Amino acid sequence: MREDSIDAIVRRIGPSARITVLTGAGVSAASGVPTFRGKDGLWKSYTAERLATPEAFASDPRLVWEWYDWRRTLISRCRPNGAHRILALWGRRYEGFRLITQNVDGLDEKAGSDSVIRFHGSIWEVSCRDGCAKSPKRWVLDEVPLGHIPPSCPWCGGLVRPGVVWFGEGIDPEVLHRAEAALECDLFLTVGTSALVYPAAGLVDAARGRGAFTVEINREATPASGRVDLAVQGGAEEVLGLLERRLGGCAGG
Ligand code: OAD
Repeated sequence: MREDSIDAIVRRIGPSARITVLTGAGVSAASGVPTFRGKDGLWKSYTAERLATPEAFASDPRLVWEWYDWRRTLISRCRPNGAHRILALWGRRYEGFRLITQNVDGLDEKAGSDSVIRFHGSIWEVSCRDGCAKSPKRWVLDEVPLGHIPPSCPWCGGLVRPGVVWFGEGIDPEVLHRAEAALECDLFLTVGTSALVYPAAGLVDAARGRGAFTVEINREATPASGRVDLAVQGGAEEVLGLLERRLGGCAGG
């Protein structure tokens, strides 16, 4: 069964194939980055409403920043795994390849991916909470652990916020535009995401609606499993590894 699935995907990956991959926390799990849901997920021990909403930040910016500082420190010790590396390789090999990630950890860039469509932002970027006129829209702040919590805006002295999308917030229109353009593809893979958080979770259906062959790769079944053309059960690093080995055989390495 697994062999048939791998064959069905490989058949759709040619030099000029337009391939779009959407990733979620499961892709970074093998690197040691905690996922959000499931047995050891962050939302089992922490309350999203207290930590990942604009309201939480307004009422207790120090608490929110302490949590982000802890996650940033944890992530800074993690290295990309085989899944990140294969996606970076595909980005260089296939001209029509696009990567949309919900992950804020930056491991795709560390693996060598560029032009990543960061659907939920980056934990390594920040912005002025008040959007002061002198500050850029976002800038990199990668000090771990942070010297001062909460960090302040170098331009206006006000509060700085993590450059991530919180619950209740919209996706950056520019990012949404790039993600929508990436839906025009031949093959759409949704990898390591619980398919519960919208609008990201709707991208696979939109791609299918536009004619893409859609595949889910996940350790477990998700609400998307019954809506894709093919659901492959397994670890992202393992299944992408199988695909790449097979492609290496076809494409001569
Ligand atoms: P979740 O934690 O909701 O889901 C992780 C998924 O990865 C689950 O479906 C697991 O079965 C699967 N999984 C775990 N290990 C895997 C592995 N090695 N290979 C393949 N799959 C594996 O994470 P997301 O779907 O990314 O929002 O969560 C979506 C959003 O919810 C996140 O971006 C975050 C969170 O709140 C923001 O940061 C705005």
